[in-house]
Amino acid sequence: MILVLDFGSQYNQLITRRIREFGVYSELHSHRLTADEIRKMNPKGIILSGGPHSVYDENSFRCDEEIFELGIPVLGICYGMQLMTQHFGGNVQRADSREYGRAEITLTNPSVIFKDSPETQLVWMSHGDKVLDPAPGFSVDATSPSTPVAAISNKERNLYGVQYHPEVRHSEYGNHMLKQFVFDVCHAKAEWTMENFIEMETEKIRQQVGDRNVLCALSGGVDSSVVAALIHKAIGDQLTCIFVDHGLLRKNEGAMVEKTFRDEFKINLIAVPAQERFLSKLEGVSDPEQKRKIIGNEFIYVFDDEASKLENMDFLAQGTLYTDIVESGTETAQTIKSHHNVGGLPEDMQFELIEPLKTLFKDEVRELGTELGLPDAIVHRQPFPGPGLAIRVIGEITEEKLEIVRESDAILQEEIVKAGLDRDIWQYFTVLPGFKSVGVMGDARTYDYTLGIRAVTSIDGMTSDWARIPWDVLERISVRFVNEVNHVNRVVYDITSKPPATIEWE
Ligand code: XMP
Repeated sequence: MILVLDFGSQYNQLITRRIREFGVYSELHSHRLTADEIRKMNPKGIILSGGPHSVYDENSFRCDEEIFELGIPVLGICYGMQLMTQHFGGNVQRADSREYGRAEITLTNPSVIFKDSPETQLVWMSHGDKVLDPAPGFSVDATSPSTPVAAISNKERNLYGVQYHPEVRHSEYGNHMLKQFVFDVCHAKAEWTMENFIEMETEKIRQQVGDRNVLCALSGGVDSSVVAALIHKAIGDQLTCIFVDHGLLRKNEGAMVEKTFRDEFKINLIAVPAQERFLSKLEGVSDPEQKRKIIGNEFIYVFDDEASKLENMDFLAQGTLYTDIVESGTETAQTIKSHHNVGGLPEDMQFELIEPLKTLFKDEVRELGTELGLPDAIVHRQPFPGPGLAIRVIGEITEEKLEIVRESDAILQEEIVKAGLDRDIWQYFTVLPGFKSVGVMGDARTYDYTLGIRAVTSIDGMTSDWARIPWDVLERISVRFVNEVNHVNRVVYDITSKPPATIEWE
């Protein structure tokens, strides 16, 4: 394992990902980890990430300085290199301005981490302070015009530092350098594959569960589907899944979940048709937050009702991902929308948790899903909010409005896939703002609904841009909406990014 200590850089998760892509397991942990805790984790190498602070700031993030005495190789990146330099008695220069962007470094005295890479190479810089003089015992391995000390090393102690960010793609040989560190310095082995993960994790689940039983809330989303498939592989019939159909899913989604899990995977699946229950609770409610809360609470009640009919359920499976763990606790963001994830733990339930995906990133979960034999429609399903179509019908929900969104969503899906755009667009769906306007069809006046198309590109859903769908594709979609979906006589395209808008309309 390669341990990455987090000093707050926006790129820190990328370091872990790159290393995993080499086939070596890596985890990102807080810089507060003590040397003792690290010794117990027994990593092959430690990477100190970049961070927004100056080493001179009063409240700058530090690490337990004992870690340099553990005999474990250390690579400091950006802030990590400055911290190391300061610790060993070098000189870090405080800067008022930042160097941000592409730079060219020249290798002057390349250490093993630069083996077989060119003498000059493009790298990505993002720093304010810089190292002026390396600490005694360290040599300068690379320079750039604006950063004379761009890389350092102390070969005897196996300590390395680079001022640039090797983890971002703009650093041409960044991956190569990381690989050299991981394999040639740390002597890690490339043993982290999905096949091994399945083997290790199923064994762990068997040990944890023994002859007891696991309950799983299946939503049809990627995470809960992969959790169900993985646990089923480990313990077969000791797993029971509850699928709550709240009537707010997309066309054929419920049927697909039942077909995949009950018919193909032969998983014990309890499908609960709760459409009416949800719709009656939502009747007359138009406030978005209230709608979200009602759906979230109702989901828990329905799940609770079903779960209480079952005997001897000891564990609840959850599709918690690595990013959920890393992000929670570091983020104190304001609540813009109260997100509701189907599968959230009912607060008063007495279950032990089982979270087999908690070390994985989203794309690794998809890879795992494919390896477990889940269909592409599930593995590559676009993000879909827990409250489903309820937040795509703006204001009060009626069966008729849901039908318009459901049917138009299916058409949009078909056309986007046909145009080969489905993997490029992060999310695409239709929205019913709920107002009517005048139109003309077959010489007659119409007074019907306006339908909105929302399609965005994004990396993580935190920010997004509107997708530039070609005009002819938009035209086909618009014509089909008006012709095939009842009560639609006008189509508009949402061209706002996030921020200032959000991806969903409610
Ligand atoms: P917004 O609308 O906040 O959405 O820009 C960002 C991403 O989150 C999804 N989303 C949800 N996901 N439960 C979820 O699991 C929710 O309640 C929820 N609300 C929004 C949204 O689809 C987008 O991908």
